[in-house]
This record gives sequence, structure tokens and C-alpha cells, in this order.
Amino acid sequence: MLVADPYQKRGVGTEFLKNMIAVARAEGVTTIWAEIRQENKEMLHVSERLGFRQTTCTDGTVRVHLEL
Ligand SMILES: CC(C)(COP(=O)(O)OP(=O)(O)OC[C@H]1O[C@@H](n2cnc3c(N)ncnc32)[C@H](O)[C@@H]1OP(=O)(O)O)[C@@H](O)C(=O)NCCC(=O)NCCS
Repeated sequence: MLVADPYQKRGVGTEFLKNMIAVARAEGVTTIWAEIRQENKEMLHVSERLGFRQTTCTDGTVRVHLEL
């Protein structure tokens, strides 16, 4: 997921991820997981706000997952 610089911090990323979650749920997906660089505080914040849980952290990467 990438939001162009001029449009960041306006809620676009959160809305985009919310929609991805809704589509995944409707399609019968049961788990979404992602790997996020530890320094990517914006993406960690957005994923945490939408209920993703952080599971492991190795080599500067945080693994997050959401059970649907
Ligand atoms: C990650 C990304 C998609 C977020 O998109 P966005 O439209 O800016 O996201 P939102 O505006 O919905 O939310 C950003 C949140 O991060 C918060 N934030 C910004 N900088 C932060 C920091 N340094 N530490 C913690 N939170 C931070 C903002 O305050 C905002 O939260 P709030 O609404 O509670 O104030 C965007 O930054 C991006 O495209 N980054 C480059 C690509 C990328 O890293 N993709 C993810 C790869 S895993």
C-alpha cells in the first residue's frame, strides 16, 4: 500500500486498508498478515488502529496479523 506524499496523513491509508479488509472478509479470507519495517511508524500505527496484532520482530521487521 502506498499513498503519494502530498496525500499522506489525511486518513487515506486508513480508509484504503479498511476497504481492503472489507473486501478480504467478503471473499472469505480468514487471516491477513504483513511485514512492516520497524521504523515505518506510520504503517505500524495504521495497522494497529485497525486491529492488527504484532507477532514477531526480527531483522528490523515487524510481522502483523489480523484474524477476520
Ligand atoms: C503508510 C502509509 C500508507 C500511510 O498512509 P496515510 O494516508 O498517511 O495514513 P493515515 O493518514 O490514514 O494515517 C497515518 C497515521 O500515522 C500517524 N503517524 C504519522 N507519523 C507517525 C510517526 N512518526 N509515529 C507514529 N505515528 C505516525 C499519523 O498521525 C496518522 O495517525 P492519526 O490519524 O491517528 O493521527 C503512507 O505513509 C505511505 O504510503 N508510506 C510509504 C509506503 C509504505 O510505507 N507502505 C507500507 C509498506 S509496509
